[in-house]
Amino acid sequence: MAASPQPASTESASRTAIHWQRFAVPFEYPVVFTEGVFDPENCALRDVLCRLEPAKRHRVVFFVDDGLIGSGASRTSLLETIERYALAHADAVELACPPIAVPGGEKIKSELHFVESFQQTLFELHIDRHSYVIAVGGGAVLDAVGLISTTTHRGVRHIRIPTTVLAQNDSGVGVKNGVNLHGVKNFVGTFAPPFAVINDLRFVMSLPERDKIAGIAEAVKVALIRDAEFFRWIERHMADLATHQRDAMATMIRRCAELHMRQIGQGGDPFEMGSARPLDYGHWSAHKLESLTRHHVRHGEAVAIGMALDARYSVLAGLLAAGEELRICALLEFLGFDLWHPALAKTGPSGEPVILAGLRDFQEHLGGELCVTLLADIGVGVEVHQIDAARMGQALHWLRARAAPG
Ligand SMILES: NC(=O)c1ccc[n+]([C@@H]2O[C@H](COP(=O)([O-])OP(=O)(O)OC[C@H]3O[C@@H](n4cnc5c(N)ncnc54)[C@H](O)[C@@H]3O)[C@@H](O)[C@H]2O)c1
Ligand SMILES: [Zn+2]
Repeated sequence: MAASPQPASTESASRTAIHWQRFAVPFEYPVVFTEGVFDPENCALRDVLCRLEPAKRHRVVFFVDDGLIGSGASRTSLLETIERYALAHADAVELACPPIAVPGGEKIKSELHFVESFQQTLFELHIDRHSYVIAVGGGAVLDAVGLISTTTHRGVRHIRIPTTVLAQNDSGVGVKNGVNLHGVKNFVGTFAPPFAVINDLRFVMSLPERDKIAGIAEAVKVALIRDAEFFRWIERHMADLATHQRDAMATMIRRCAELHMRQIGQGGDPFEMGSARPLDYGHWSAHKLESLTRHHVRHGEAVAIGMALDARYSVLAGLLAAGEELRICALLEFLGFDLWHPALAKTGPSGEPVILAGLRDFQEHLGGELCVTLLADIGVGVEVHQIDAARMGQALHWLRARAAPG
């Protein structure tokens, strides 16, 4: 480890003494890729639960996204499947209670009574720090249940089973949890690595068409800023991805998850202490567009537009070779993304596009100086600390003209 500039203890002549406390805690967790995680013969979940204490019977609580449960006769099927799995592995797994269905989507993050009532449940079940809280669902359910797990008893073991493309290739493999408060997304949250993540392709294949497409945006994003070869792979397989072919989707999710994991594990700032947001290419305008449309535009859909905008800006700023932005836009459109939304045309009292306020919000989220990732080449992200509003206005105009020529 590099020598720290501070001595272990300093004492000045006067009344102040400083003792430097210093330690490092290594984190590790497996990210498992499988199919049919709750098939009784699939041991992925059992192996994960038993990885530290193989001989123990582990107490487990499941929170399951109700978007997975369906309605009518199929309503209980996933909950029952989980119960059957636990029964088949009863020597290793003890359900502390039947799996609990929870609201999917932003509702669970925006209404805090859910957090309180789930914590009440953990209290009544006497869940301890060696028990497991397992979240099965989209990114919103993972964020909310993750927060509950990491704050109850200051941290109960938490396993994530993400069920959307976005949660499997991006949010679910990371270290962040959170819920919304005061109308601010993720205002309350923690950085806390999970005990394990299990990605099951079967969940993704049952997603509605729109959500299958939306999550691909994060793969294009990470390819654009980190991995030119992956970008070329996406281009070569765009027909398979646009029609959600199983093998192409599996490879795309896995490579994208790996690149996100590498950034968290090796990027030097897993808990985002600095001002950089290295994986947030195309995100400053995406977050703003999501809130301007009250989340009618999905995160991935907004990121696709944000990437097209910042690609054009990168060309106008002389960073990216002219023509590359057309290549990026063509790929995104082929995959099924619209690259314009009327909310981008909204202007404020000063006549400036409202979307530009997203730059300030983006800076405020972390504090410190503005740090926006642009493109120096396909596969090469570059951080800049200033954005020229007039030039960004030109990029917006260009995007609009492409969408409605003439
Ligand atoms: N923690 C992080 O690092 C991080 C990063 C990015 C995004 N996020 C958060 O993730 C959330 C978005 O997550 P998301 O895109 O996964 O969407 P989501 O969790 O909002 O889910 C979208 C809808 O899909 C349903 N659903 C989930 N899985 C399904 C399946 N397999 N089949 C059918 N329906 C299913 C849900 O019930 C919900 O109605 C946002 O709250 C965002 O803030 C977190
Ligand atoms: Zn994103």
